[in-house]
Amino acid sequence: MAARLSTSPVLSYAVLLPFLSRRAAASRSFSPFPFPFPFLRRSNICFSSQALSMARDTSAQDVSAQARRGFPSQVDDFASPGDLSFESPLKIVEYPDPILRARNKRINTFDDNLKKLADEMFDIMYKTDGIGLSAPQVGVNVQLMVFNPAGERGEGEEIVLVNPRIYKSSTRTLFFNEGCLSFPGIYADVERPASVKIDARDVTGARFRVNLSGLPARVFQHEFDHLQGILFFDRMTEDVLETIRSELKALEQKYESRTGLESPESIDKYERTQRQQIAGFARR
Ligand SMILES: *[C@@H]1O[C@H](CO)[C@@H](O)[C@H](O)[C@H]1NC(C)=O
Ligand SMILES: [Zn+2]
Repeated sequence: MAARLSTSPVLSYAVLLPFLSRRAAASRSFSPFPFPFPFLRRSNICFSSQALSMARDTSAQDVSAQARRGFPSQVDDFASPGDLSFESPLKIVEYPDPILRARNKRINTFDDNLKKLADEMFDIMYKTDGIGLSAPQVGVNVQLMVFNPAGERGEGEEIVLVNPRIYKSSTRTLFFNEGCLSFPGIYADVERPASVKIDARDVTGARFRVNLSGLPARVFQHEFDHLQGILFFDRMTEDVLETIRSELKALEQKYESRTGLESPESIDKYERTQRQQIAGFARR
């Protein structure tokens, strides 16, 4: 996900988060997110295995069933070393590359290669002014995301989430002006639950649960969608989508002239019903 200061009057939420801009955050002496992920510090006692034990409740199962809905015929197998291979330096995959719609395999190998991939994802995320990035966006179709809502190396906290799941979402939703590194320069309002409860593994494989709200909840949900092959415009209202239609078409044309291939998807053929099916909102 990309960040910028919102200019939309609709977005009172953005007004509550004036530090959303990476530069605005950097110019302040305090961390904009003093306690986003205190539990992820290695020293934190929340890492006890008891605290992190994963109760497999029914709501968690509902959500994971739903998360797989986009790929109903697929078996939930794990990524092989080949699935986790990548070339340095990483490059951002842009819409409408089919990599962004491909299935992302779960990870069960927590090795140096995974750490290196996460590190390089942070590198390119900072370089491109991002605050969050998912593995498919760098061409690696696995269940991995990184984010740092402060968007600046050395500030905020660097979060690596492997095989994340949402097991509860708030019924309260918010609109927020989102950007995406796979859609350079495109920003539009997206409605999402205000807070989510998630479980995941960290880069060492340790399981944890956490409740997110504010910008961390927003970034997480955007990146989590990437891991399901869902892109932010799948969640936009038709009115909002209209405001970025020509920019999406421009990306489709750019893809066609770069690859010589027909664009695998077209915003002009985009069906509302298909979109609602992709971006079903019942995660709660
Ligand atoms: C999340 O919030 C619930 C209450 O809604 C609480 O019981 C739980 O301990 C919280 N989990 C974490 C990891 O903070
Ligand atoms: Zn994105």
